[in-house]
Amino acid sequence: MNVLVVGSGGREHALCWKLRQSPLCKRLFCAPGNPGTKLVADNVDIAADDIQGLLRFAIAENIDLTVVGPEAPLCAGIVDEFQKQKKLCFGPNKAAAEIEGSKAFARELCRRHRIPGPSFQVYEELGMARSFLDNRPDGPIVVKASGLAAGKGVTVCKNNDEARAAVTECLEKRRFGEAGGQVVFEEFLEGQEVSLITLTDGRTIVPFEPARDHKAVGDGDKGPNTGGMGVITPVAMLPRTTAQVESQIVFPTVHAMNRENRRYHGFLYAGLMLTTQGPRVLEYNCRLGDPETQPLLMRLQSDLLPLLLATAEGKLESQQPPVWDKRVAVCVVACSGGYPGDYKKGVPIFGVDRVQQGPDLQVFHAGTSQRLGGDLQTAGGRVLAVTALGADAAAARAKVYAALKQIEFAGMHFRTDIGAKA
Ligand SMILES: Nc1ncnc2c1ncn2[C@@H]1O[C@H](COP(=O)(O)OP(=O)(O)O)[C@@H](O)[C@H]1O
Ligand SMILES: [Mg+2]
Repeated sequence: MNVLVVGSGGREHALCWKLRQSPLCKRLFCAPGNPGTKLVADNVDIAADDIQGLLRFAIAENIDLTVVGPEAPLCAGIVDEFQKQKKLCFGPNKAAAEIEGSKAFARELCRRHRIPGPSFQVYEELGMARSFLDNRPDGPIVVKASGLAAGKGVTVCKNNDEARAAVTECLEKRRFGEAGGQVVFEEFLEGQEVSLITLTDGRTIVPFEPARDHKAVGDGDKGPNTGGMGVITPVAMLPRTTAQVESQIVFPTVHAMNRENRRYHGFLYAGLMLTTQGPRVLEYNCRLGDPETQPLLMRLQSDLLPLLLATAEGKLESQQPPVWDKRVAVCVVACSGGYPGDYKKGVPIFGVDRVQQGPDLQVFHAGTSQRLGGDLQTAGGRVLAVTALGADAAAARAKVYAALKQIEFAGMHFRTDIGAKA
């Protein structure tokens, strides 16, 4: 089979790395890819949101399956455009991707189908949003831009004043453009966060192993949120909690999408808060998480390609359930100085070639580029996702942090406590 992966982050490097190991995979392309995907696939210079360009390439190169990493092309309808030309594309269509593309839609879906989440309110009009805040008792509340905001649209507020400022940013200053044209206020939930990614074709539902992302930039969850600083998988969950997550959230969500004529194909990512009252949906994503993908795929022992193919074809029931390495995987993201605020690009990266990579240790590229001579440099906020397998969390952590000691670039920073509590 000829396969095209769309995207250019650490998630796509991990996807290419895993798909390259499939005996079914003949040619593998990544558009636009990065210096990491270039090691295992042929990079193609087409942007991830250039849907027509990608489609032309898929037709010209006889691509059998296109696998879309990021949310933007999915929400823009890449799967629908491919389907019109009878090209197979893995992921939800535009109507189904709205589960991520509109947080207001996702919340209302949960309400209509009694899927447990925080209480919430949606506003488009500044005066109405402000008067909602004026009329509620002061206290913590979460303010979200409803649309796609690259992980920057959510403010967890300690009080109403902070919420007023967040509303001004969204509805008045239009900091997130159209994505912030609607704001969602949510009840502030407390508990442990878990990411649960499920593979589904709308009928067969295959939950992957749970993972825990670390969103805040600093150790001890201090500082502003980022796209994700590191992940550990698996996460210890009581069998009762796992059963609740499946029966109260994952299954009803897939069912609800069917009922609303938005049959879901692809990875459905549920961001969950495990509260003392039970699991609650924080959000849905319409694709794999980044960096959750990196450690999950290192633990996945089954061939990924037939699973993706069967999902896209609506035949997931034909597949054996995935087999997971019992060991623990830890992923730590090395970031540019200043991230998640402003940061420089083009900073030389040293030492990646010093790391002894293998099936138990991988340095996945996220925001890197290559100079003319081949030297690596930074090209984004999240630069490298160092990922290792170990017998337990401590062993996996030791491998990751030893590898990070070999790598350096000016301004490099990473969390030192990923998976430390496990
Ligand atoms: N209702 C909530 N209560 C408490 N924390 C929340 C709530 N919603 C979101 N958060 C926190 O904010 C983070 C980002 O919110 P999320 O809805 O996942 O948006 P996105 O990933 O699109 O930025 C979550 O990972 C969680 O830490
Ligand atoms: Mg999230």
